[in-house]
Amino acid sequence: TRVAILISGRGSNMVSVIEAAKAPDYPAEIALVLSNRPEAAGLKRAAEAGIPAKAIDHTPFANRESFDAALDAALREAGIDLVCLAGFMRIFSAGFVEAWAGRMINIHPSLLPLFRGTHTHKQALAAGVRLHGCTVHYVVPELDAGPIIAQAAVPVLPGDDPESLADRVIVQEHRLYPKALALVAAGHAPLKDGRVDFAAAC
Ligand code: GRF
Repeated sequence: TRVAILISGRGSNMVSVIEAAKAPDYPAEIALVLSNRPEAAGLKRAAEAGIPAKAIDHTPFANRESFDAALDAALREAGIDLVCLAGFMRIFSAGFVEAWAGRMINIHPSLLPLFRGTHTHKQALAAGVRLHGCTVHYVVPELDAGPIIAQAAVPVLPGDDPESLADRVIVQEHRLYPKALALVAAGHAPLKDGRVDFAAAC
């Protein structure tokens, strides 16, 4: 399974997946890293790890569809089977999401379906939940609403602020994403009729 990781920023989740994929029995190969931001720190980290890394700056494109078409072309050119979003901060056109349906996953820093969108740690503190965490899910057109593949939880502790909570969650993100990707790449959690089919074994 040839995997592309899409980033916009520092790429710490990307690094955790690249590291995990070095294991000889890992069911996926990280074949490409793409960023919509040329200045993303993660691009350099990917190149240092020996992964082909490329920026496709979204700013010169006239609209969402034309940027997504360029992204799609780069993914197909590299023979990508599966797309992993890791801090990729752009919303896709419905057509792109349809084209990659069941073959594109994302990590989100909350226990979905709670706290979609941004500032999830602030949202969690405002809601007063005692458990928070992260979710890996299939990407569907509605933001952060796709079928859930895996989750990890952390406690919310007295005195937490968004930063301390984010620091606790990111540790779990780095453990969860490589595991969830392995599950998907091995065919053990395919998307079927809008649900994740955990009984599937290939
Ligand atoms: C992570 O918290 C991820 O869940 C969220 O954005 C952050 C990206 O961090 N979508 P990094 O670029 O992987 O370090």
